[in-house]
Amino acid sequence: MFATRPDTRPATVEVLVDGTPVRVPEGASAAAAVLAAGLPALRETPVTGAPRLPYCMMGVCFDCLAEIDGTPNRQSCLVTVSPGMRIAPQRGARAPL
Ligand code: FES
Repeated sequence: MFATRPDTRPATVEVLVDGTPVRVPEGASAAAAVLAAGLPALRETPVTGAPRLPYCMMGVCFDCLAEIDGTPNRQSCLVTVSPGMRIAPQRGARAPL
Protein backbone atom coordinates (compact mmCIF):
# COMPACT_ATOMS: atom_id res chain seq x y z
CA MET A 1 0.00 0.00 0.00
CA PHE A 2 2.75 2.45 0.94
CA ALA A 3 6.14 2.30 -0.66
CA THR A 4 9.22 4.46 -0.42
CA ARG A 5 10.13 5.99 -3.76
CA PRO A 6 13.62 4.89 -4.81
CA ASP A 7 14.82 8.48 -5.21
CA THR A 8 13.68 9.48 -1.71
CA ARG A 9 15.19 6.64 0.34
CA PRO A 10 16.77 8.08 3.50
CA ALA A 11 20.41 7.52 4.29
CA THR A 12 21.02 4.69 6.72
CA VAL A 13 23.30 4.27 9.70
CA GLU A 14 24.69 1.08 11.20
CA VAL A 15 24.16 0.38 14.89
CA LEU A 16 24.90 -2.65 17.05
CA VAL A 17 21.85 -4.26 18.64
CA ASP A 18 22.96 -6.84 21.21
CA GLY A 19 26.20 -7.12 19.23
CA THR A 20 24.55 -7.60 15.83
CA PRO A 21 25.01 -4.91 13.14
CA VAL A 22 21.68 -3.46 11.95
CA ARG A 23 21.13 -0.75 9.32
CA VAL A 24 18.30 1.67 10.05
CA PRO A 25 17.21 4.94 8.43
CA GLU A 26 18.96 8.06 9.67
CA GLY A 27 16.78 9.71 12.31
CA ALA A 28 15.16 6.46 13.49
CA SER A 29 14.93 5.72 17.19
CA ALA A 30 17.04 3.14 18.98
CA ALA A 31 13.79 1.28 19.76
CA ALA A 32 13.06 1.07 16.02
CA ALA A 33 16.51 -0.46 15.54
CA VAL A 34 15.70 -3.04 18.22
CA LEU A 35 12.46 -3.95 16.47
CA ALA A 36 14.25 -4.13 13.11
CA ALA A 37 16.81 -6.48 14.64
CA GLY A 38 14.04 -8.85 15.75
CA LEU A 39 15.17 -9.28 19.34
CA PRO A 40 12.79 -11.47 21.38
CA ALA A 41 13.02 -9.05 24.35
CA LEU A 42 14.80 -5.79 25.11
CA ARG A 43 14.51 -5.96 28.88
CA GLU A 44 13.15 -8.16 31.62
CA THR A 45 11.04 -6.91 34.48
CA PRO A 46 12.98 -6.80 37.78
CA VAL A 47 10.38 -8.74 39.79
CA THR A 48 9.14 -11.57 37.56
CA GLY A 49 11.65 -11.49 34.72
CA ALA A 50 8.86 -11.07 32.15
CA PRO A 51 10.20 -10.15 28.69
CA ARG A 52 9.42 -6.70 27.29
CA LEU A 53 9.80 -4.96 23.92
CA PRO A 54 9.14 -1.33 22.92
CA TYR A 55 5.39 -0.76 22.90
CA CYS A 56 4.19 2.85 22.79
CA MET A 57 7.20 4.35 20.94
CA MET A 58 6.50 7.74 22.52
CA GLY A 59 7.99 7.70 26.02
CA VAL A 60 4.99 6.53 28.04
CA CYS A 61 5.28 2.80 28.82
CA PHE A 62 9.00 2.44 29.70
CA ASP A 63 9.03 -1.02 28.12
CA CYS A 64 11.92 0.09 25.91
CA LEU A 65 14.50 0.63 28.67
CA ALA A 66 17.91 -0.38 27.36
CA GLU A 67 21.60 0.11 27.84
CA ILE A 68 22.73 2.53 25.16
CA ASP A 69 26.45 3.17 24.71
CA GLY A 70 27.05 1.82 28.21
CA THR A 71 24.38 3.90 29.96
CA PRO A 72 21.54 1.80 31.48
CA ASN A 73 17.88 2.79 31.83
CA ARG A 74 17.64 4.83 28.61
CA GLN A 75 14.22 5.04 26.99
CA SER A 76 15.31 3.79 23.59
CA CYS A 77 12.21 5.16 21.83
CA LEU A 78 13.37 8.69 22.71
CA VAL A 79 16.98 8.24 21.53
CA THR A 80 17.91 8.90 17.91
CA VAL A 81 20.39 6.45 16.42
CA SER A 82 23.91 7.54 15.59
CA PRO A 83 26.55 5.59 13.66
CA GLY A 84 28.13 2.85 15.77
CA MET A 85 25.64 3.21 18.63
CA ARG A 86 25.62 0.15 20.91
CA ILE A 87 22.16 -0.89 22.11
CA ALA A 88 22.05 -3.74 24.60
CA PRO A 89 19.21 -5.45 26.44
CA GLN A 90 18.75 -4.61 30.09
CA ARG A 91 18.42 -7.53 32.44
CA GLY A 92 16.77 -7.20 35.85
CA ALA A 93 16.93 -4.19 38.13
CA ARG A 94 19.52 -1.49 37.76
CA ALA A 95 22.34 -1.62 40.26
CA PRO A 96 22.16 1.07 43.00
CA LEU A 97 24.49 4.04 42.55
S1 FES B 1 8.34 2.32 23.92
FE1 FES B 1 7.10 3.09 25.52
S2 FES B 1 8.41 4.43 26.60
FE2 FES B 1 9.58 3.75 24.93
